[in-house]
Amino acid sequence: MTTAKTRTSIPTAGRVHRFSYAIRNIVAEAQRVEAAGTRVRYLNIGDPVAFGFHTPAHLVDAAERALRDGHNGYGPSAGIAPEREAVAADCTAKGFPVPADRVFITAGTSEGIELTLSAVVDSGGEVLVPMPTYPLYTAVLAKLDARAKYYRLDPARGWMPDLDHLKSLVTPATRALVVIDPNNPTGAVYPVPVRRALLAFADEHNLLVLADEVYGELGFDGAVEPYGRLDPDAPIISFSSLSKAYLAPGWRTGWMAIGRSPRLDDVVSAVKKLADGRLCSTVPMQYAVMAALQGDRSHQIAFREALRARATLTIDRLTAIPGMSCVAPTAAFYAMPRVALPPGRTDEDYVLSLLRSTGVLCVYGSGFGLPPADGFLRIVFLAPLEELREIYDRMARFTADYLS
Ligand SMILES: Cc1ncc(COP(=O)(O)O)c(C=O)c1O
Repeated sequence: MTTAKTRTSIPTAGRVHRFSYAIRNIVAEAQRVEAAGTRVRYLNIGDPVAFGFHTPAHLVDAAERALRDGHNGYGPSAGIAPEREAVAADCTAKGFPVPADRVFITAGTSEGIELTLSAVVDSGGEVLVPMPTYPLYTAVLAKLDARAKYYRLDPARGWMPDLDHLKSLVTPATRALVVIDPNNPTGAVYPVPVRRALLAFADEHNLLVLADEVYGELGFDGAVEPYGRLDPDAPIISFSSLSKAYLAPGWRTGWMAIGRSPRLDDVVSAVKKLADGRLCSTVPMQYAVMAALQGDRSHQIAFREALRARATLTIDRLTAIPGMSCVAPTAAFYAMPRVALPPGRTDEDYVLSLLRSTGVLCVYGSGFGLPPADGFLRIVFLAPLEELREIYDRMARFTADYLS
């Protein structure tokens, strides 16, 4: 037997230092606050199940049946055929015609995004990413040694993309445009002319469009149409999952639908090759995809109404706080208020001070790519109304002290 004598740490890769995911990173500080005896309200992560919303029973039944029926072996790397067909039929019914052989079942939207960026972006390549962004994009690009080029979303215009700024960022190294619509972290939905302008811009520069449509069913006024409907022949990949609108984020089950354009044939092959390398996504949960897309969706009506009520309360209460402003969201469960910070202070300072003195945990805007001095933070408003009222009372008292 040999006994190790060396005490030097095993070195880690440089890419880890470039990888950041603020939504989870701040939890370490929250746990310290909790250990010191303060109750923490976790408004940092968009998980409806954590706030008492239930996964629909027919989805649970489908996954349970699959487990009991012995569907516990590896599956095809692209996903089980009937479930791919269900996604293709759903996209086609929404006006984005996609053949089933261009659908991949993935471990959530997240894995589809990672497979796609890995398939199309070389080291040194550039991808246009909104600012603020959902941080997965920048995290994956850091792993690929590629660059996120941030295009501004403008809070003064309801968080719409700044198209002039976007156009100024294109270089010969640009490979793709990321569009998150409905948006996390802003809750905005882009009107059709803005969507058309984004597609025209991507077409002009031969860019792949990653349409992150994971909140597509959660517009307060009903489901939002997919980008592919506007131009089924554009090079669009649509991403979604069971996580948000089907209330099963822990199942890590989602899909990507690659548009029918022959310009995407090589991307289909490249994604297939990479998907083969991870064998398959979790098989029993795939059986719930068809149940979700072809079964009863009435839970979404109740969920949307619950979200609208929480959004209204959130905006009413936050905009009443002196020094705070907020654009009203029209989808999903996020709001992005802004605090008029005193000179020298940062969004992280405000968020950590709020956490330490009230136990309310939000994510600072710079975790989504915004300048730290701009004073933005993201709130997940999934908690029950009564709890939100109490949370906003605490925020109002804290902010008055902080700004005085
Ligand atoms: C915009 C956006 N994209 C992707 C994801 C990842 O979702 P999934 O659970 O489907 O991987 C999230 C989760 O919060 C998100 O907000």
